[in-house]
Amino acid sequence: MKVLVTGGAGRLGRSVATVLHQAGHHAVSVDRVDHPDPAVDDVRLDLLDEDAVVSAFADLRPDAVVHLAAIAVPFSAPELQILTTNTRLAQVVVDASLRAGARKVLAAGSPTVLGYGAPGGWTPRYLPLDEEHPTAPWNAYALSKQVVEGVVAMHARTAPEAVLGSFRPCFVVSPEEWAGAPTQQGHTIADRLRDPALAAVSLFNYVDARDAGEFVLRWLEVADASISGEAFFVGAADALAVLPTAQAVAGALPSAAGAAAHLPGTSAAFSCAKAERLLGWTPRRSWRGELQGAPDLVGARPGPVLTAGGPA
Ligand SMILES: NC(=O)c1ccc[n+]([C@@H]2O[C@H](COP(=O)([O-])OP(=O)(O)OC[C@H]3O[C@@H](n4cnc5c(N)ncnc54)[C@H](O)[C@@H]3O)[C@@H](O)[C@H]2O)c1
Repeated sequence: MKVLVTGGAGRLGRSVATVLHQAGHHAVSVDRVDHPDPAVDDVRLDLLDEDAVVSAFADLRPDAVVHLAAIAVPFSAPELQILTTNTRLAQVVVDASLRAGARKVLAAGSPTVLGYGAPGGWTPRYLPLDEEHPTAPWNAYALSKQVVEGVVAMHARTAPEAVLGSFRPCFVVSPEEWAGAPTQQGHTIADRLRDPALAAVSLFNYVDARDAGEFVLRWLEVADASISGEAFFVGAADALAVLPTAQAVAGALPSAAGAAAHLPGTSAAFSCAKAERLLGWTPRRSWRGELQGAPDLVGARPGPVLTAGGPA
């Protein structure tokens, strides 16, 4: 399958393109910068230029398009710029993909659509969080990602000949970040584990970039018309915390302590059961097996699990 990966040179896109390439697909990174792996083909393009995108995609004739290009960090640009850039990119890329004959189109949303971290407070209705949980974006990035999901769902209603979908990758950790490179937030993964406040706002979610790449591969190979337009959470099976998840969540967000009390052991506060049920995908990697250079963290035993009634 010939698959265009927009944003293919980015933190997530690099792994997605490599996983697709290694699985025998013809992955082509479409980005403003080159893909670092010379084995992966790339096309340099400003994806905000609609005419150029329509023309390039028509020439490339992809079987599938994975749309990742975006301003990927909340508040990293003025709010209006994030909103208009991310929503324009989604509409331009999805429309051009279908016009070029692509039969599979998958776009990246974000778990931030849920609304965690809102200045006015936020409490989950239940845990673990799943795709049925209400959304409440409170900044331009999260809102743009809700629109991305809407763009995908809209085209799914009008393009029955194609299969479309979106996914909400949790905090993406690339192979070099497990080895100590700074994350998109500037700190390292070891910093994030040593200071729970850094991951608290997102309820300790994360996903290995290669696991996310394998989700994309699975979706491209398995998704059919029966799930066109659907969104999926894509996260690790455990939480990015040394403490048991119930204890970590209760410390970070006391209003969620009751909902978190039944989360077993180190399990994630985000559920990927839908992806497992409909696509047969499950995450394979945990920070405990991937983090390098921090044996004190990797070897740390989670403390006692707190339940609503106290330590269990
Ligand atoms: N990294 C995360 O933790 C995370 C979490 C949830 C969702 N996401 C989403 O996943 C996607 C990828 O995130 P990432 O962390 O790899 O981001 P990134 O910033 O590392 O990569 C984005 C890539 O898109 C390219 N790009 C941006 N605008 C472009 C344009 N106009 N034309 C061509 N290329 C353009 C950039 O050059 C870059 O290579 C984004 O949509 C992001 O919102 C990421």
